[in-house]
Amino acid sequence: MGGSIIGWGSHLPELVVTNADFAARLDTSDEWITERTGIRERRMGGLTSTMAIAAAKVAIDRAGIAPEEIDTLIVATTTPDQAIPATSSVIHAALGLRGGAFDLNAACAGFAYALVTADGLLRSGQRCVLVIGSDTLSSVTDQEDRSTAVLFGDGAAAVVIKADDSDHFLLAYDLGVDGTLAPVLYQDHGGYIHMDGREVFRRAVRAEVDSITTVLDHAGLSAADIALFVPHQANIRIIEAVNQRVGFDLAHTAVILDRTGNTSAASIPLALVEAADSGRLRPGDRVLMSGFGAGMTWASAIIEWGVSA
Ligand code: ACO
Repeated sequence: MGGSIIGWGSHLPELVVTNADFAARLDTSDEWITERTGIRERRMGGLTSTMAIAAAKVAIDRAGIAPEEIDTLIVATTTPDQAIPATSSVIHAALGLRGGAFDLNAACAGFAYALVTADGLLRSGQRCVLVIGSDTLSSVTDQEDRSTAVLFGDGAAAVVIKADDSDHFLLAYDLGVDGTLAPVLYQDHGGYIHMDGREVFRRAVRAEVDSITTVLDHAGLSAADIALFVPHQANIRIIEAVNQRVGFDLAHTAVILDRTGNTSAASIPLALVEAADSGRLRPGDRVLMSGFGAGMTWASAIIEWGVSA
């Protein structure tokens, strides 16, 4: 059983926090942040649930379906509103859904993990799956710590995947995790994110390159066959290092981190939705998404874009 993305939507909080805003109160500068990360501003505020609901409403509306048609809701997030219940329960109620719902925590690889899970649900007979990536990393970041505060932002994006007559949704995927690297990026209950930035950078490039190579190999494709690469939006230098090693160029890469910072599970779908909204995707285009994050997790997935933008 196959399927395609028939609806998409995103939501960003209104509050824009620029590099200059950080420079005004921390020992940092617009120049340092821009050169080392590519980030110029990020959005902050809201809850994981409220942003997700707003993004999902746009996606469902664009898909032209009734909420009751959705068989399963998957919410990729590392920052649930509460420890219990899952944030997907709150979103499920607000959207008036009928089927099942669950949260999925694979950090910044969460959206790609959720797409692979959705593919499995379609293959087991479900007709429609709503996948949302939503995170409020600003709420778990120490805003006085210049080494992490400038990196993260909040946001949400959603896609509706509907079963169709094609024989596939995903062309290929690769999932992975290396739990021995958990100490390089973690947040204790009630605490803030701690990160060994240099080590995460090094591991991220290696994990993404290996995962992308694997998934291209599984699909029998080369870098030139990919119309759009949608990487996790953490640092432009990570994206450039991956591109250089894999053979992608920036003209075929979706980049939004300059305006959003790192929004964790929302980052890949935010970039995908912007590409779709701006008419950058055509039916038949192959799109490769690849993320990495705390865990350390990684995930890559290749889909074929199935609808007119
Ligand atoms: N402004 C000015 N100076 C800073 C800042 C800042 N905002 N932050 C750190 N510095 C300083 C450091 O203190 C350090 O000073 P020192 O040499 O006196 O100790 C110096 O800048 C260089 O620090 P590095 O860590 O070597 O800088 P680097 O070039 O590696 O950039 C960064 C740091 C941006 C964090 C980079 O390592 C990175 O992006 N790592 C990956 C982070 C990431 O992707 N995290 C998330 C992945 S998973 C998820 O999304 C949850």
